[in-house]
Amino acid sequence: MKKITIIGTGYVGLVSGAGLSDFGNNVCCSDINKEKIELLNKGVIPIYEPSLYELVNRNVKSKRLIFSDNVKDSIQSAEVIFIAVGTPEGKTGNADITTVLQVAELIGKNLNNYKVICTKSTVPVGTGKKIIDVINKYNQNNIEFDYCSNPEFLREGKAVSDFLHPDRVVLGVASKKAYDYMKVVYRTLYINKTPLIQTTIETAEMIKYAANAFLALKISYINEVANLCDEIGADINIVTEALGSDGRISPKFLNPGPGFGGSCFPKDTKALIRIAKKHNLDMYTVDAAIKANENQKIRMLNKLEKLLKGNFNKKKIGILGLAFKQETDDVRESSAIYMISGLIKRGANIKAYDPIANDSMKKLIPGIDYKLNWESAVEDCDAVVIMTEWNEFRGIDLSKLKELMCSPIILDTRNILNIIELKRLDFTFDNVGRK
Ligand code: UGA
Repeated sequence: MKKITIIGTGYVGLVSGAGLSDFGNNVCCSDINKEKIELLNKGVIPIYEPSLYELVNRNVKSKRLIFSDNVKDSIQSAEVIFIAVGTPEGKTGNADITTVLQVAELIGKNLNNYKVICTKSTVPVGTGKKIIDVINKYNQNNIEFDYCSNPEFLREGKAVSDFLHPDRVVLGVASKKAYDYMKVVYRTLYINKTPLIQTTIETAEMIKYAANAFLALKISYINEVANLCDEIGADINIVTEALGSDGRISPKFLNPGPGFGGSCFPKDTKALIRIAKKHNLDMYTVDAAIKANENQKIRMLNKLEKLLKGNFNKKKIGILGLAFKQETDDVRESSAIYMISGLIKRGANIKAYDPIANDSMKKLIPGIDYKLNWESAVEDCDAVVIMTEWNEFRGIDLSKLKELMCSPIILDTRNILNIIELKRLDFTFDNVGRK
């Protein structure tokens, strides 16, 4: 097993660090943010991610996982260093790799013996080469090192199980020595027959964008099929059941909704188009997926407008769900942002509730009425909109909901409510492709 340092303790760094220590490696999660490290050392996990607390705790107890704000020392003591810092969307749609290159500089300056430097952050194709150049520039004693591109495929809300039980591990390397090192890092998976895909650095970087853009395409496609179902009176649930049972299509990522959000698909689809543009190529399909996604958000607002017969003014609307998906407190690019902003512009009054993400949304949209349970969020409302597919909302007592509301109008953008019950209780309702 290897001595590993992970630089960056965001959700990717923390989950990867805890997961790699669970595989038997000795891991130091390192960050220049002293407050974060202090919290982690006190056993506090700064993000909401199911099972992460247990995974971290278990490995801290077994002394395979430590946290440090001394990035220099943690670089020098490691055999393998993972770069897991953020690559936010830059002004032009490119991923901003400034922090990644700063970390590369720090690694170059502190290189003291052979190490494999491995990138987990999502970076544009060609970044690996830039990282190697920066390390070389500051590597004054010409110490040998290798580079590896090891993209992550972790879904927020399911990141722990995605890390511990991945479909594949992609290792983009330029030398056998680097691959052999990484094989030891992932030995637990390797002996459990998880495919380790060895490839070049550029191919590994490409795989990450190709995977995310493909999934975004799949969602946009099914959203458009659902919209057509709306118009012709077909049922998207049966359509996806039939589509999904075709092994070539698979049932995963075929759930229509209010448009994909989060910190990855919106950013990575745009970044892929930018990468292609640099090579004088158009990616018409990815471009269409982005446009279809924008349209989906607009369509949800239009659906609500129709339900309210064109009048939002002074209407009380209850929003259930703010996170971009269930099991996370993340609201980045959440379709709920578009819905709430649109409603505010049209003069509606909003009450909102999310089991976990109220505080995250408060930072973005402070001026609405946040509630601590669904009941108070729907009370006296003229309409209710389900934006996130939390299990809590799947099990809502619809009779109680009707009693609490001023008029029984509901838009279910996640298709989680029982249509037969809604009809029986005389709700005026809409959803995505299930009329
Ligand atoms: C996504 C990928 O799924 C991960 O493999 C990848 O590692 C990650 O991006 C990343 O690049 O870091 P994530 O954004 O956390 O993960 O969440 P997803 O579960 O992929 O959901 C993204 C969006 O698509 C959400 O808004 C979700 O509600 C929506 N979605 C997903 C649908 O509308 N329908 C579906 O069937 C699936």
